[in-house]
Amino acid sequence: MNIDEFLELARARRSVRRFKSDPVPDELIEKIIEAARWAMSGANGQPWEFIVVKDPALKDKIAEAKDEQQRLAAAIEMTRVPEMRQPRYRGIPDIPPDLGFREAPVLIFVCADPRTIQATVLNQLLDRRWLVDENTANATQMLHLAAAACGLGAQWVTISAYLEDMIKPILGAPKIIRILNMVPIGYPAYQPKMAYRRELKEIIHYDGYDMSKYRSHEQLQDFLLQLRELSKPVYPIK
Ligand SMILES: Cc1cc2nc3c(=O)[nH]c(=O)nc-3n(C[C@H](O)[C@H](O)[C@H](O)COP(=O)(O)O)c2cc1C
Repeated sequence: MNIDEFLELARARRSVRRFKSDPVPDELIEKIIEAARWAMSGANGQPWEFIVVKDPALKDKIAEAKDEQQRLAAAIEMTRVPEMRQPRYRGIPDIPPDLGFREAPVLIFVCADPRTIQATVLNQLLDRRWLVDENTANATQMLHLAAAACGLGAQWVTISAYLEDMIKPILGAPKIIRILNMVPIGYPAYQPKMAYRRELKEIIHYDGYDMSKYRSHEQLQDFLLQLRELSKPVYPIK
C-alpha cells in the first residue's frame, strides 16, 4: 500500500450510525480485531481486550442501559445553550437516539486492563487513566480503519463511567477491567457524508508554534458553534 492508498482509506473511513441487518462474517471481525492488536501502546503495555457481542438478548440489555443513560444525557444537554446542543435536542430531525447501534449485527466493546500501566516508568508522572485511555483509543482507531478497509461501517460510542457501571455486569467483566467504548459494526445502511476537517495549513506549525494561527477564545467559540452546524448533514435522517 502506498501513501495515496493509505490517505484514501483514512478519508473514506466515516462514522456510520445506521446499519443493514446483514450479518458480518466472523472471519472479518477477527481480521478487524487483528488490526487493533497492532496498535501502538505506551511501553507496549497493550491494555486492550475486546468483547464481541452478537447475541440479541445481550444487545437488548445493553440497549436498556443505554436508554437509561440517554435520559440522563438529555437532561444534562438541555442545560447547555440551545446552539450548542446536539441536533436532536434542537428539534432537528435526527436518528432516534442510538438506533444505529441496535441495528448493527456486531458490537465490539473495547476494554482496557489498567494494571498494564505498570509497563511504563512514566506512569508515576502521567495521569494513569489517560494513558490507558489513549492506548485504547489507538486500538479503536485501528478497528475503524480496518472496518473501512473491509467495506464495513463502524461507530464509536463512548461508554461513560455511568454506563460502564451498568454494562459491566451484563458482560460479566471483572471490576478491574475498564469498558471504554463500544464499536458497532455492520454494512452501512446509507452513504455517509464527508465530515468536516480543519485545513492542513491551519493545523501545521513549523519550528515552533506559529502564533498567527493561534485562535482566540472568541474564535474557538465560533469554531465550536460552526461544528454544531456542520454536524447536521453528517447525521443520517430517519
Ligand atoms: C473519543 C471519541 C468519542 C466519540 N464518541 C462518539 C459517540 O459517543 N457517539 C458517536 O456517534 N460518535 C462518537 N465519536 C465519533 C465522532 O463523532 C466522529 O469521529 C466525528 O464526528 C468525525 O466524523 P467521522 O468519524 O465521520 O470522520 C467519537 C469519536 C471519538 C474519537
